[in-house]
Amino acid sequence: MIDNIKKHIAEVEAFTANAQGEVEAFRIKYLGSKGLLKDFFSEFKNVPNEQKKEFGQTINALKKAAEEKVNFLKNSFDTSTDLNSVYGDLTRPGEPFTVGSRHPISVVKNKIIDIFSRIGFNVSEGPEIEDDWHNFTALNLPEYHPARDMQDTFFVEKDPDVLLRTHTSSVQVRYMENNKPPIRTISPGRVYRNEAISARSHCFFHQVEGLYVDKGVSFADLKQTLQYFTTEMFGKSKIRLRPSYFPFTEPSAEVDVYWGLETETDYKMTKGTGWLEIMGCGMVDPNVLTNCGIDANEYSGFAFGMGIDRIALLLHQIPDIRMLSENDIRFLEQFKSSY
Ligand code: DAH
Repeated sequence: MIDNIKKHIAEVEAFTANAQGEVEAFRIKYLGSKGLLKDFFSEFKNVPNEQKKEFGQTINALKKAAEEKVNFLKNSFDTSTDLNSVYGDLTRPGEPFTVGSRHPISVVKNKIIDIFSRIGFNVSEGPEIEDDWHNFTALNLPEYHPARDMQDTFFVEKDPDVLLRTHTSSVQVRYMENNKPPIRTISPGRVYRNEAISARSHCFFHQVEGLYVDKGVSFADLKQTLQYFTTEMFGKSKIRLRPSYFPFTEPSAEVDVYWGLETETDYKMTKGTGWLEIMGCGMVDPNVLTNCGIDANEYSGFAFGMGIDRIALLLHQIPDIRMLSENDIRFLEQFKSSY
């Protein structure tokens, strides 16, 4: 009898099932109310006393083996999300999960970085809390220079002045102070201005600064670089440079790209002119080079600065700049991008 039970134990251990129904049949065979275990247990009273102990242990071993096998097989056919399930239902449809999307500001920023990195520009960064020297003085904006009024500044401390940078041009200064030419760098980052918040302006926004300093850099190099940029960024190669003024560049210019007037959107975006202003630029003023410890007789350079938010609003026809900082997921979800 004991040998017979031991044979069953071996059988139970070797058992496998291809379908849930087979597991159930197996369970009934051993553990069911009319199952084999029941039969063996009822034999117990007929077993001679000296064998009772071994007999009892063997039946219990069979019971345990059968229960464990049933549990194991049940789990493997389980279609619930039980993590212990070995196989699960492989034909079950996958569970959808939400994929995030990059913020439109990051999308535009990354695209700009990508375009300039292809022509040898690296990426540099500077602090958002700046001192007077890097944000103003070194950039040819001495203390009483009227151009300081062009920017409303958030001051953190007065005398000596500590402030939230009003433009990423401050990174130019830091980069030139710490690196020798040839310099080719772009500096993306957040900037702050004390402006009333409205659909068109915010007290913080984002810029990308560009700086190229080497021997013999000319205005033609600047124009060529910008044309390459607008072609890659917008698919538009027609640009114009309008004379302008920035204290840190001489000569200075404002860059317009010809967007066209083919669609109604073109009309709206360009206010009927076909031209879109995208950035300021110029040849780095020799005073700025000198302030940053670069020999202005040996080197020349160009610089440019553009607003990332503005470009994001234009490209995506976003009507209100505040939407960029509200973090409304219904808005953000619309910007799936590989950048
Ligand atoms: N810093 C300027 C601004 O905030 C943008 C700018 C204009 C940067 C001309 C430059 C430049 O480097 O050459 O409006």
